[in-house]
Amino acid sequence: MTLSRRKQKRLGALTAAALAVASVSALAVNTAGAQETPDGGDIAQAKVDNPYEGAQVYVNPQWSARAAAEPGGDAIADQPTGVWLDRISAIEGNDSPTTGSMGVRDHLDEAIAQGADVIQFVIYNLPGRDCAALASNGELPAGAIDRYKSEYIDPIVEIQSDPAYAGIRIVNVIEIDSLPNLVTNVSPRPTATPNCDTMKSNGNYVDGVSYAAAELGALPNTYQYLDAGHHGWIGWGDTNPEYDNFHASAALFGSLIGENGMTADHVNGFITNTANYSALEEPYWEVDQVVGGQAINQNPNVKWVDWNDFNGEIDFSTAFRDELVANGFNSDIGMLIDTSRNGWGGDYRPTGASTSTDPVTFVDDSRIDQRFQKGNWCNQAGAGLGERPQVAPEAGIDAYVWIKPPGESDGASEEIPNDEGKGFDQMCDPAYEGNIRNGFNMSGARGEMPLSGHWSSEQFAELLANAYPPVN
Ligand code: BGC
Repeated sequence: MTLSRRKQKRLGALTAAALAVASVSALAVNTAGAQETPDGGDIAQAKVDNPYEGAQVYVNPQWSARAAAEPGGDAIADQPTGVWLDRISAIEGNDSPTTGSMGVRDHLDEAIAQGADVIQFVIYNLPGRDCAALASNGELPAGAIDRYKSEYIDPIVEIQSDPAYAGIRIVNVIEIDSLPNLVTNVSPRPTATPNCDTMKSNGNYVDGVSYAAAELGALPNTYQYLDAGHHGWIGWGDTNPEYDNFHASAALFGSLIGENGMTADHVNGFITNTANYSALEEPYWEVDQVVGGQAINQNPNVKWVDWNDFNGEIDFSTAFRDELVANGFNSDIGMLIDTSRNGWGGDYRPTGASTSTDPVTFVDDSRIDQRFQKGNWCNQAGAGLGERPQVAPEAGIDAYVWIKPPGESDGASEEIPNDEGKGFDQMCDPAYEGNIRNGFNMSGARGEMPLSGHWSSEQFAELLANAYPPVN
């Protein structure tokens, strides 16, 4: 497969770029103070609408130290990032290079020491994890739902419910890359995988996510955000109803209400783009713009869009929020968007719309997202840091957050034996020419990358160099 000239240039220039760095501010400094502990009052009322409002957000010292040790990394080392609980041993702390030695209690204690008002945990250990991919398969086999509940969720609930932590708002981002797979990667879709078929038929994703949301959501100071993919995954609906991912995914989320005692009040919102690369918006073109006599999203030749209804995460998140409310969630839910790696700055970022009247050229030359295809998810070459974390950037959006810690790999670029349950996914191999889930495009992945969650100085440097807004 031949690379376009522009992309070849891009891939050849991965490490080239001068860094201009200076300090940037973290989320707004706390003015609100700690949340009061309710005395058995109505939980929904005790919780604030947007936990990020007026809050200082916890900086994970382990990520911060790694970032600060990189050239220019000081400029972003004070940013809050997600604390991933990616295996049972991460609850107490372990010796993995990913999660490091700090357990849940250590992080909470440290958050109090920092004077933080919000801490962000990622609940990520479902049985049969990552059913459409291999790079982040986990330790629990497809049937191990009882262990998930008793050895993973219950101990986290126990720690988070300790009155010592009642004054801190605990954000729980729940199970990345799980439920939308049950819509898009199951039979009879051509994109089905055997593992996703299994997780649909055994019900353990639905069981696990609803259990996690219900148990964690019953605590007075927690805020649950369920993972809702991104526009390049479930943004198909109205323009091409034959593959409706959008309405079907919202309906699936709605079906969790009532499972394991999960109520709408247990869910404070949803997060999109976690650990992904989809841009917030395309500044130079609209997805339904008419070019060459036809709307872009009706044109079968424009593979980049391929009938998607959206052009970025802001529009998608906002629309998906409405759809979730229509499916039973509270009207005051808020969205989060992970902007840790969706900046797409650097030398190849266009500065205006293309003047071409050929729709394919127009889109390829106008778009800031430089991926070969929106289904590409592993260590995307050319990516940059996105918007710094910030509170309430748009109506309906509680915050831009950095849940995926920049510098941590999405997956190994070649097979690496390990005891973390992680497999090798070809989507992380730069030479891979793709499969049906990415329209048989090149993977766009960086080479020489370690196991998912492990640190890559090279990727960190590239994200910093290609940051947009730039880091300076
Ligand atoms: C990995 C986890 C890691 C997380 C954050 C995931 O892809 O599977 O082990 O904690 O990324 O980097």
